[in-house]
Amino acid sequence: MSRELPVAVPAAGLPERVTIYEVGARDGLQNEATVVPVEVKAQFLDRLADAGLGVLEATSFVHPRWVPQLADAGELLARLVRRPGIDYPVLVPNERGLDRALAAGVGHVAIFASATETFANRNLNRTLDEQFTMFAPVVERARVEGLRVRGYVSMCFGDPWEGAVATDQVAAVSRRLVDMGCGQVSLGDTIGTGTPGHVEALLDACVAAGTPVTQLAVHFHDTYGQALANTLAALRRGVTTVDASAGGLGGCPYAESATGNLATEDLVWMLDGLGIAHGVDLDALVATSVWMAHRLGRPSPSRVVRALSG
Ligand code: HMG
Ligand code: MG
Repeated sequence: MSRELPVAVPAAGLPERVTIYEVGARDGLQNEATVVPVEVKAQFLDRLADAGLGVLEATSFVHPRWVPQLADAGELLARLVRRPGIDYPVLVPNERGLDRALAAGVGHVAIFASATETFANRNLNRTLDEQFTMFAPVVERARVEGLRVRGYVSMCFGDPWEGAVATDQVAAVSRRLVDMGCGQVSLGDTIGTGTPGHVEALLDACVAAGTPVTQLAVHFHDTYGQALANTLAALRRGVTTVDASAGGLGGCPYAESATGNLATEDLVWMLDGLGIAHGVDLDALVATSVWMAHRLGRPSPSRVVRALSG
C-alpha cells in the first residue's frame, strides 16, 4: 500500500512556489543537549540536499563558549562537499564571525538582530542600538566580498522578559536591516506566541515602514502549535520564503521558552495540499528526520514525521 497523500486543492491568493529555507542544522542543532559529531552534521546536510532542499543554513560562526554545539563550524564547512546550486548560509554576529566565515569560503551570511532591548543584551551582549553598530561593518564587508546577506529579527511577536512586542518596533528594526544592506529580513517568532492576525498586522507594518514583502521571510517556532497557521497567513500576504527545520528540531539557547521551529515536513504536507511547488521529496526528508532523531535519542515532534514513520 502506498502512503497517504493530501489531496491537492489550490486556494486563491497564494504563491505558486515557496522557497523553503532549511534551518535544522543550525537552529535545530544549536539547542540540542547532545553535541552532534561533525561527520553526522555533514551527513545530515547531505541528506537534506538529497531530499531536494536548496537552502541549507549550515552553522554559526558565533563565540564557541556561547554556543558550544556549533563550535565546529569551520571544521564542518571544511568537511562538507558543497554542491553547486545549493545555498549554504551561515550565521555571523560580528566581524570576528565574518572573518571565520570568509576563511571557510561561504557565499551567504546572516546577521541576527533583536527587536527588544532585553534580548539584544542576552543574545548579543549589546544594547538595541549597539547591535547595529556591531552589524554595520559586517554587512558592508560581506557585500564588498560579494556575499549575500540576510538579517534576522528575533522576538517579533512576544519576548519572555518584555511581554508583547509592538509591530512598529519590529518594523523599524527590519527597516534598519534593509537600509544597512540586508537583501532579505526573516521575522522570527522566537518563542512561538504569534497568531495569524498578528502575523498579518506585523507584515503590514513592515511594508508600511518601507520593507517590500518580497524581501521578507518568516521564521516561526512552533511552541504553541501556531506555526503552520501563521505560515498560511504570511503566504496570503505575499511572503514566499519560509524558514523550517527538518523534524521540527530547534530552539534558541538564549530564550529558554523557545522550542523547535516549524517542522519542514509539516510545511511540505500543507504546501502539497495547496498545490504550491517547493521541490522537496517528503519521503526522503522524513527518513532523514527519523535518522537524526535516532542520533539525538528522542523522537521528532513533527506530526507528519510521526504519521509517516509509524
Ligand atoms: P562578547 O562577549 O560581547 O564578545 O559577545 P566581544 O566582542 O567582547 O569579544 C570577546 C571575545 O570573544 C574576544 O576574544 C573575541 O575575539 C571573541 P578575546 O580577545 O577575549 O580572546 N569573539 C569570537 N570568537 C569567535 N567567533 C566570534 C567571536 N566574537 C567574539 N564570532 C557575541 C558578543 C556576539 C560574540 C556573543 O554574544 C555571541 O556569540 N552570541 C551568539 C548568541 C547566539 O548564537 N544565539 C543563537 C543564535 S540567534 C537565534 O537562534 C534566533 C534566530 O533563530 C531567529 C529567531 O528564532 O528569532 C536566528
Ligand atoms: Mg530561531
